[in-house]
Amino acid sequence: MQFSYADNSATVKADALLVPVFEGGKGLKEYAYGDKLAKLFSKGDFEGKAGSTLMLHKSDAVAADRVFLLGLGKKDKDGASQLGEALAGFFRNGAIHSYKLKHVAVALEAVHDDAQAIGRWCAEGALLGDYHFDVLFSKKDKKKHHASKLTLAGGKAAELKKGVAYGEVTAEYTAHARDLVNEPSNRINPATLAKFAQDMVKKVPGLKCTILHKPEIEKLKMGAFLGVNAGSDIPAHLIVLEWKGGKQGEKPIAYVGKGLCFDSGGYDIKPAQGMLGMKMDMGGGAATICALGAIAKLKLKVNAVGVVPATENLISGKAYHPGSVLTSMSGQTIEIGNTDAEGRLILCDALTYTQQKFKPRVVVDMATLTGAQVVALGGKVVGLMSNDDKVAKGLEAAFKAVHEEVWRLPLPEFYDKQLDSTIADMQNIGGNPGTVTAGLFLQRFIDKGQKWAHLDIAGPAMNDADGWRLWAKKSATGTPVRPLVEFAEKF
Ligand code: BES
Ligand code: MN
Ligand code: ZN
Repeated sequence: MQFSYADNSATVKADALLVPVFEGGKGLKEYAYGDKLAKLFSKGDFEGKAGSTLMLHKSDAVAADRVFLLGLGKKDKDGASQLGEALAGFFRNGAIHSYKLKHVAVALEAVHDDAQAIGRWCAEGALLGDYHFDVLFSKKDKKKHHASKLTLAGGKAAELKKGVAYGEVTAEYTAHARDLVNEPSNRINPATLAKFAQDMVKKVPGLKCTILHKPEIEKLKMGAFLGVNAGSDIPAHLIVLEWKGGKQGEKPIAYVGKGLCFDSGGYDIKPAQGMLGMKMDMGGGAATICALGAIAKLKLKVNAVGVVPATENLISGKAYHPGSVLTSMSGQTIEIGNTDAEGRLILCDALTYTQQKFKPRVVVDMATLTGAQVVALGGKVVGLMSNDDKVAKGLEAAFKAVHEEVWRLPLPEFYDKQLDSTIADMQNIGGNPGTVTAGLFLQRFIDKGQKWAHLDIAGPAMNDADGWRLWAKKSATGTPVRPLVEFAEKF
């Protein structure tokens, strides 16, 4: 999509002009042609509810072929994110498709937010709303119509441009993460996920990618990661990304993401309904890779690393058993209470590796880790656990800034002993509350004094319910790429 800028929304010759209006019709009067438009619809036809639209008859008051009122909801928040989300809805479901609109313009005269924020939200809203995973349809008619040009009219062009440049990057890499998660596991597996990361860095100057293959992973004694990998014919890959945009010698921020390309559950096999959809179990890994891509593409002045243990969790004569005992890279031994609690096993070794190798100033891991997260918080709220209040607050602020949702859960010591085993240092299941005991398991692999947070994205990785905010129906969300970029920039 090409972005362009104009001083006056009335004179843009576009296929459609979108005119943002807040609830109660607020904002309409601020457009020079507002009164004329108001005459085109009778009172009550349009309330300005968030995401609503109304197509008006062609008006001589504007040069565009069509006019749409675009509802932004209540005028009590920052207009920019409201506009971005309304745009996402329009690009996802709106008249773009029915009228095959190519050139869309947005009138900005009544949106009084920071122009850079408006630019960023317009780019993110339009591009992410326009996202559709259609590479696997063989017939052209299943492919979505895409608008080719968005003109931002009636705002401060220089500032808008800066925001658009930023939003184009965050949207592009969020879309990459969505693709990786939407791709089925016969196409994205540990080897092709690693290949994606290697290909990605070729397009981002300064971003480095190293793949550790199975012999190196064996040398590092990642017994927990290798235990999960044992049942798969595809060898484990450890994907490592490094960006040095900060001061030399400054400790990096580390992101660690679960790259479980297909989770059958192993011998503690999942029932059919639970197994279907487990291609998405690499959502944390996808977000980690793509966040590093975006951070580097934006040339953020930080040092950052991304580490993704990639494997499948399958069944074979070589697979690990319920009751097996694995020795992790940290030396701690783990009795397998359930082969389906595999995410924490690949993450614990990745966490040990990350701390030893990079001495990070903060580690944030993310994973589609527990079904209990979906029960507790559903598909729209990420579960956050942390051993550090500042890190937790920083992440909360980062999610808030990009209008995504996170909720902090506690890590109480009294639940930790539920992880004790009678024959090993610990077991990989700790009972209820399942999200918290998974977090407590990971915490056992965090060094003393190491700042750390864990994000459970089991529900939010895939949006299956509805089209909401920047997300699409029955499709991957790419979360938390945008919060991670924000956190890297601000923390
Ligand atoms: N990948 C799953 C968690 C999951 C469930 C993600 C539903 C997305 C949607 C994870 O590996 C898993 O199977 N967790 C088990 C752990 C249990 C055996 C302690 C779970 O949550 O049931
Ligand atoms: Mn599992
Ligand atoms: Zn899993």
